[in-house]
Amino acid sequence: MAEQKRERILSGIQPTGEMQIGNYFGAVQNWVRLQDSYECFFGIVDLHAITMPYQPEQLRKNTERLAVDLIACGIDPGKSLLFIQSLIPEHTDLCWIVSCFCSFGNLTRMTQFKEKSEQLKSQSKDHFFSAGLFTYPVLQAADILIYKASVVPVGQDQKQHLELTADIARRFNNEFGEVFVEPKILFTETPKVMSLADPSKKMGKSLGPKHYIGLFEEEESIRAKVRTAVTDSGVLPEGVEMSPGLENLFEILGACGKVDLVSEMKRDYKAGKLKYSLLKESVADALVELTGNLRASRAEIKPKAVQKSVEEMSMKARAVARETLREVRELAGLPARSVGD
Ligand code: TRP
Repeated sequence: MAEQKRERILSGIQPTGEMQIGNYFGAVQNWVRLQDSYECFFGIVDLHAITMPYQPEQLRKNTERLAVDLIACGIDPGKSLLFIQSLIPEHTDLCWIVSCFCSFGNLTRMTQFKEKSEQLKSQSKDHFFSAGLFTYPVLQAADILIYKASVVPVGQDQKQHLELTADIARRFNNEFGEVFVEPKILFTETPKVMSLADPSKKMGKSLGPKHYIGLFEEEESIRAKVRTAVTDSGVLPEGVEMSPGLENLFEILGACGKVDLVSEMKRDYKAGKLKYSLLKESVADALVELTGNLRASRAEIKPKAVQKSVEEMSMKARAVARETLREVRELAGLPARSVGD
């Protein structure tokens, strides 16, 4: 019996520096699981990373490091294709073509664009507020459409970008002929990991070191950060069962797989006898275990070998991308390119 064709997944992650546990629980851990049931393409999207101010040397390091880190997390070159976006010029070729099928009005309504431009304005970096930042979602659409991916695992914050991608695909297909697959979003059940020092905000590196736990962080600093994490800050409002800080610690403990501990300690909390120091110790233990395992698997990886393997995977992805671009060029009335371009 012929093997049933697996659906194709594409997702992307920006090389913006050290990964933190929020990235892991929110995306990468799920990618690792999806590898067994889907044909997966995962992109390190360096061309998206340059839409915000950056240092060239840092970007190069971040890209190389992210490839190693992703493999340490379990992205398996034997199962998936992990590629670097800028090594595949078909992404930007297609980006231009599909930008002509993307409504300007829709782009102006993208909340991520509004947020990032606000951020630049508030840092008095208005001069970095670029056309690239504005057309970021079109490049994302090209990332997806170039592989005819039918499933895209992303968080809620990417919903608008995925709807835009589907709009573009539909519009091109209707006008010139069926080539693109309209992708479905796979919203992943992911824990919402908040900052340790300010649990009203999503965990992120831009808030500063106190706020996040690095995915490969050392034991001592993990313990120190968890120990000083905000728990209860005053009286809880009517109807609220638990402070956001406490809730976040439970969320992290659960994400580390310690579900029995979570229910036990929540029971204690309800009974008014939970020792916060004990909860914090359990959270720190779980995180130390996770990062320890990840550090150990990263120590076994040779960065040079990863670089070579990612280049090879990028060339395999490129072969798929090239084929889609060939079909698109034909439908769009652009001349055929000779092989090898
Ligand atoms: N915009 C995504 C993010 O910020 C990253 C991304 C780029 C992406 N291209 C993609 C995600 C294609 C999914 C599919 O997280």
